[in-house]
Amino acid sequence: MSNNDLAIVILAAGKGTRLKSSLAKVLHRAGGRTLVEHIVRAGAPLKARETVVVVGHQAEQVAAVVEPLDAVTVLQQPQNGTGHAMLVAKRSLGRAKLAVVLPGDAPLVRTETLKALVTAHRNGSAAATILSAVLADPSGYGRVVRKSETTVSAIVEESQLTDEQRDINEINSAIYCFTLEKFWSALAQVRPNNKHRELYLTDAIAVLSSRSETVLAQVAADSREVLGCNTRADLADVDRVFREWKRNALMDTGVTIQLPETVLIDPDVIVGEDTIIEPAVQLLGKTKIGARCTIRTGSVLTDAVLGDEVTVEPHCVVAQSRLDDRVIIGPFARLRIGTHLKRGARVGNFVETKKAVIGEGAKVPHLTYLGDAKVGPKSNIGAGTITCNYDGFHKHPTNIGKGVFIGSDSVLVAPVRIGDGAYIAAGSTITDNVPPQGLGIARGRQVNKPGWAAKKRRDLAAAEKPKKASSKRKPRRRSKKRK
Ligand code: UD1
Ligand code: MG
Repeated sequence: MSNNDLAIVILAAGKGTRLKSSLAKVLHRAGGRTLVEHIVRAGAPLKARETVVVVGHQAEQVAAVVEPLDAVTVLQQPQNGTGHAMLVAKRSLGRAKLAVVLPGDAPLVRTETLKALVTAHRNGSAAATILSAVLADPSGYGRVVRKSETTVSAIVEESQLTDEQRDINEINSAIYCFTLEKFWSALAQVRPNNKHRELYLTDAIAVLSSRSETVLAQVAADSREVLGCNTRADLADVDRVFREWKRNALMDTGVTIQLPETVLIDPDVIVGEDTIIEPAVQLLGKTKIGARCTIRTGSVLTDAVLGDEVTVEPHCVVAQSRLDDRVIIGPFARLRIGTHLKRGARVGNFVETKKAVIGEGAKVPHLTYLGDAKVGPKSNIGAGTITCNYDGFHKHPTNIGKGVFIGSDSVLVAPVRIGDGAYIAAGSTITDNVPPQGLGIARGRQVNKPGWAAKKRRDLAAAEKPKKASSKRKPRRRSKKRK
């Protein structure tokens, strides 16, 4: 279907008073993206000649989201209603004959539904085609008043419903296809006759109908697609639907997700076949996970890239890091920006890394901080090892060679190099480079003093004795106290 006679208009200028927020409504997020971004993306495959976004509240921030997606913006200032928003968009629509109009706050609409709307509009030679939905609870929405089984006589806003109309459960999604010439002439007749003194786009429907123009309503197959976000509760509902769709899509491609309703996955995340995701996991940003991995409960991965057969034990936090095939981390590991664990490396509990490259098969099993560090293959970093990478002014590198053994509780004061195959004695504070195959030892030498403890105890006991004796000599006072 060629759509070069079609423009898309997204109305995104409103503040969103009902959200009670300092952030403009369309910049709120659901399903891992801002509301307005979802809508621009849903419309893009229609290949319209133009996508125009009407902006007003926080116009610059909204423009910064939609312009990289090839949409143009027009400024509506002040915001005098959805009909007024259309008038502001008018000059940007060029020679388009049709327009698909969408609100900026109904982000679940799918491309297929929009394509079907345009097709129904063209096939029915309509002046307007409304995407409607039948809802169990229609409150808060404008209602579709039918003229016949296929045509519509009006949309009535919630505030203006008569008692009879209140029972209508077919609602206006605020997604429409208009034949523009007819729409503009009808909109010209609309007046701001409502308590907000706004020009309602929905009032143009009654005008078209009274002129015997064809106004159709197409009922959405999945009513969830039209959910608008006017309140925080609406945002939560919409988020829940997006998350469910994403999880279902991954399960369809061979990913196991346990207790799926507890797992949060952003839209751009990729997961390979036979990977298992345990309950309460979050996979965020551009995270990419290979095949046959296990991501265990409570772990949060943001912009992480994992190879195949990687195990993330419970409660790990990973951001902007790379884990090659067969790596095992956690439980309770924290990998920060720029961490790269090479094939088969192991990072255990209570280990934090930042800008750290850990070589193949190397182990950092417990209680360690590695920052701005390189660890060669097959090296072993003992419990409690810390890189002192920051001197209060600058960050400095620590370079540990291959096959190195760092004894427990060592402090490596950067910049420092530990040569291949070297040993560091436990408890050392290493300030100088250690040569390959050497031993670095930097701690006080142990001195044993035989019998010292026994003598100490005897001395202490002797010092205590006179005190005890004197307290025994005052029994009368104690009995007085007891009275
Ligand atoms: C609107 C419809 C209602 C429908 C519902 C579906 C109207 C008058 N009512 O109501 O029939 O059932 O959507 O969700 O259209 N906007 C502007 N400029 C303005 C006013 C609004 O750009 O001057 C934008 C808003 O940013 C928003 C969209 O238009 O994205 C819809 O406005 P909103 O206030 O959410 O209308 P609803 O009360 O939800
Ligand atoms: Mg709304």
